[in-house]
Amino acid sequence: MNGKWLKVLGRLVGMKNVLAVVVINIKNAMVQVIGEFLMDTNNEDRVKWVYSSKNNSELSERYDEWAKDYDNDLSEFFGWIAPQTAAGYLAKHLDTQSEVLDAGAGTGLVGHALSELGFKNLTAMDLSMGMLKEAESKNVYKKLDQMVLGEFLDYPAGYFDAVISVGVMTNGHAGPGSFDELVRVTKPQGVIVFTLKTDVYLENGFKQKMEQLESDKVWEILEVSDEFHPLPIGEPEVLHKVWIYKVLK
Ligand SMILES: C[S@@+](CC[C@H](N)C(=O)[O-])C[C@H]1O[C@@H](n2cnc3c(N)ncnc32)[C@H](O)[C@@H]1O
Repeated sequence: MNGKWLKVLGRLVGMKNVLAVVVINIKNAMVQVIGEFLMDTNNEDRVKWVYSSKNNSELSERYDEWAKDYDNDLSEFFGWIAPQTAAGYLAKHLDTQSEVLDAGAGTGLVGHALSELGFKNLTAMDLSMGMLKEAESKNVYKKLDQMVLGEFLDYPAGYFDAVISVGVMTNGHAGPGSFDELVRVTKPQGVIVFTLKTDVYLENGFKQKMEQLESDKVWEILEVSDEFHPLPIGEPEVLHKVWIYKVLK
């Protein structure tokens, strides 16, 4: 083969390589677009994706990623009504000047519901900075703190009049061990309000822990709501109850 043909062949091989790179880039872009489309359209998968997190750091990263769409997904695709429901129970037992900790505040839906009822002294706490940023933009909290339920909470003993925690005490999120610190940071005679899925209450050690705290005279039950459907659009089969306890020591 003479030099001329070698040059032509070289150019053809070069063009083939360029073409291959272009095709790979187009393919990757399409995979990403389709992935994002599926994530946006299949919101139930997003919930499963969050619940399947292997540890707190993965859980926090996944909530960070979901934060911007969380409010819209929860209201449009699930009809999430637990924040308003639990806020209503808290308001029955406390005056609006009370210092309230929203534990696992997420994007601030509970804070928003409480502020609509006149509460102003609200602190948001969550493990996800992304969720807390969304909560901050609601302008209903005077303080926002990144902390983890189940670990030491950096508040003095008896600091809050009440704690509220909605959709947080559940599989792969905060466990029954979280109650010890929530009790410590609540004043004696203060109130702790939280939602629990009915099967999680029975199967994940919550029933045992809640009864233990009661028999140890750490808290006493003030009220338990009837079962209600917190996600009437997306998961109508799910049942929650709101639990309201008074802290004794
Ligand atoms: C289903 S969302 C509920 C958010 C909000 N309370 C609501 O009702 O919309 C659960 C929230 O709990 C937070 N979370 C989960 N496990 C936590 C933990 N161990 N400590 C603190 N926050 C936690 C997540 O980051 C997320 O913001």
